[in-house]
Amino acid sequence: MDERIITAIEQPVDDWQYSLRPRRLNEYIGQDKAKQNLSVFVKAAITRREALDHVLLYGPPGLGKTTLAAIIANELGVNFRQTSGPAIERAGDLAAILTNLQDRDVLFIDEIHRLSRQVEEILYSAMEDFALDIIIGKGPRARSIRVSIAPFTLIGATTKAGALSPPLRDRFGVISRLEYYSTAALVEIITRAAQLLKIPIEANGAEEIARRSRGTPRIANRLLKRVRDFAQVDGLTTITDAIADRALIALEVDRAGLDHTDRRMLDAMIKKFHGGPVGLETIAASISETRETIEDIYEPYLLQLGFIMRTPRGRVVTEAGYTHMGVAYPKANDVPTLFDFEDM
Ligand code: ADE
Repeated sequence: MDERIITAIEQPVDDWQYSLRPRRLNEYIGQDKAKQNLSVFVKAAITRREALDHVLLYGPPGLGKTTLAAIIANELGVNFRQTSGPAIERAGDLAAILTNLQDRDVLFIDEIHRLSRQVEEILYSAMEDFALDIIIGKGPRARSIRVSIAPFTLIGATTKAGALSPPLRDRFGVISRLEYYSTAALVEIITRAAQLLKIPIEANGAEEIARRSRGTPRIANRLLKRVRDFAQVDGLTTITDAIADRALIALEVDRAGLDHTDRRMLDAMIKKFHGGPVGLETIAASISETRETIEDIYEPYLLQLGFIMRTPRGRVVTEAGYTHMGVAYPKANDVPTLFDFEDM
């Protein structure tokens, strides 16, 4: 994958990001629906002195699932333990984590859809009965013993709720979808981050970055940092919309927040496949990306903007998508034949 300024994949070490993370629910901007509901469930669990029911957070990358999970643990006044689906290789690894949890702790598993089958099966009894079924011995002499663990809250995060197996999904009492942020919410997030970082920013400057951050706080914060670099080198003390625009053009982030790869995808769909319908695999191959990358990162935002559509026969570029790319929308009788029937 290209090195992208607007990637929403978690960067391994970025203290700057972490220091900006809100710690309390009332500092967390946007996601009002999820926030309001979670605040009720957290208060109720505290009053009953019980572990909060298991929570599944899903939605595109970079929308604050980890941040929200850490806030929930903080609000509950318990420990926050963090891991991810691919990091837990064996059932024993998960058993070790679970037996070390204290009463009502939060265990956060990012990319929970990537747990292996064997590991996932350990979770079933852990979530339902706060117990682990451990097999001792092999073959005909094997027997199972049940070990209790502390009542805990599992918070799972995934970009695709549909990829979760039904038995796992059914064990979450709370399922919450995070949405792309509005420009207004991103303006607040950027303004807050700028304050924390002591970067003077004009309202129009924050607005310019917000509009081009594809609804994603992680991207907004990263762009703010890059725009600051441009402002600093130009000897400016305040971020204005003009310097934000100049920096974002230099970073190849266009007016809708699309980057080089998004545009390459739209361009391929228009020029090679007459705007579609074209299957995801075919699009992926034509721009040398994986199907998963397109599905998780590029497609959701292009769909949100209404630049592409999903149809039973594949993806199609809409009139708005053509207009954005500066290409005339084909008239009805120019509409292409089918390119392929795969996926969907
Ligand atoms: N930083 C990143 N995401 C945020 C959010 N939702 N609220 C406040 N600050 C943030």
